[in-house]
Amino acid sequence: AHEGDFSPITQGHTDELWGLAAHPTKPQFFTCGQDKHIMLWDAISHRPIWNKTIEDAAQSSGFHPSGSVVAVGTLTGRWFVFDTETKDLVTVHTDGNEQLSTMRYSPDGNFLAIGSHDNCIYIYSVNDNGRKYSRIGKCSGHSSFITHLDWSANSQYLVSNSGDYEILYWVPSACKQVVSVETTRDIEWVTYTCTLGFHVFGVWPEGSDGTDINALCRSRERKLLSTGDDFGKVHLFSYPCSQFRAPSHMYGGHSSHVTNVDFLHEDTHLISTGGKDTSIMQWR
Ligand SMILES: *[C@@H]1O[C@H](CO)[C@@H](O)[C@H](O)[C@H]1NC(C)=O
Repeated sequence: AHEGDFSPITQGHTDELWGLAAHPTKPQFFTCGQDKHIMLWDAISHRPIWNKTIEDAAQSSGFHPSGSVVAVGTLTGRWFVFDTETKDLVTVHTDGNEQLSTMRYSPDGNFLAIGSHDNCIYIYSVNDNGRKYSRIGKCSGHSSFITHLDWSANSQYLVSNSGDYEILYWVPSACKQVVSVETTRDIEWVTYTCTLGFHVFGVWPEGSDGTDINALCRSRERKLLSTGDDFGKVHLFSYPCSQFRAPSHMYGGHSSHVTNVDFLHEDTHLISTGGKDTSIMQWR
């Protein structure tokens, strides 16, 4: 790919756009923004499949691994779950009263982890294919807001990053921190969205203050890493990326900070979302 291999999709959102999630099994993706708009998109036609307005400004989203429901986190601590097919509301819960920056289901579909700006990670057990939720824990230990989190492939561990550049590991079912390097070193992560960590160390540019990269995503085949930065750029690196200041391909297009990146299922495309320009780009 080279600069220009992208299609902008601009209609739809009118305010800061941060929530982005690729459908786990179909060429579709979901976006949600501070304009309170939520939309499911067809990545082939670039057309919305459905859209809906919710009561709160949205910040984050995640698909259940079955694809049957999508969870939406808002700026108020309230979160919603919608049926992907019918767009009907499945359930609504509230955790704290601050921004929910990340929502991520475990790969076995039995848990949902929610990262909040109140420094805590809320853990729910999930039943009935994403239709029933009960809170099993509130994991505290970070001393700043949660920015990103990822599940292990076996759904037994979580890794989280916070606003003060901390990386913590957890047994989420017990909200217990894991401090043993022998344990954490060999964990296989099903996604990689945490911007801090050994395998992604090389994405950080020289002189960075640690806030320039808003989002990171590893491709499903685990060969590429994409980042979205504060300067409107999307970067592609090889994964793993543990070499100091690793080389990358850089793509422009967004006129403002890139808020999120995600590879579509089967890695056919990369989707990126813009903040102030409220645009969505699809990269080949
Ligand atoms: C949102 O959905 C409504 C129908 O529910 C439709 O009329 C409208 O055009 C859609 N908006 C966008 C931006 O797709």
